[in-house]
Amino acid sequence: MQTKSFDAETARRVIADFAGTPGALLPMLHAMQDAFGHIPEPAEPMIAEALNISRAEVHGVVTFYHDFRREPAGRHVIKLCQAEACQATGCEALAARAEQKLGVAMGETSADGRVTLEPVYCLGLCSVSPAAMIDGRIVARLDKGKLDALLAEASR
Ligand code: FES
Repeated sequence: MQTKSFDAETARRVIADFAGTPGALLPMLHAMQDAFGHIPEPAEPMIAEALNISRAEVHGVVTFYHDFRREPAGRHVIKLCQAEACQATGCEALAARAEQKLGVAMGETSADGRVTLEPVYCLGLCSVSPAAMIDGRIVARLDKGKLDALLAEASR
């Protein structure tokens, strides 16, 4: 997972890539997250100015979508589906187990910076739920054993 400290020049370059593009806010935010590993707070007013919208609008979009991070992620990101089908097959107990083992709540990063634990709402794998994702790799039929293996993999 790439994380990079904010620098205005990189942010300006990202913004310039979308100059004149209709509906540029979401793609610009995704590109910003690709560049920095999260949406740095100083980038929000720069985006607002470039798109001639309010900073509150930019901030509202950043905080509305779960995919946008406001802080850098850990080296590994484990996403546990918490949507309906996965709830029916035990995702809540698995999430509690992951939180307990990592010592973090959902949405947080372990103190050593290795693992970020995030909820996700349907990975399109409802028929093989509970579902999870580690660093973009899908895991189906998650159980305690698979979860423990994921946590061990992410802690290396
Ligand atoms: S509800 Fe979890 S994959 Fe669809």
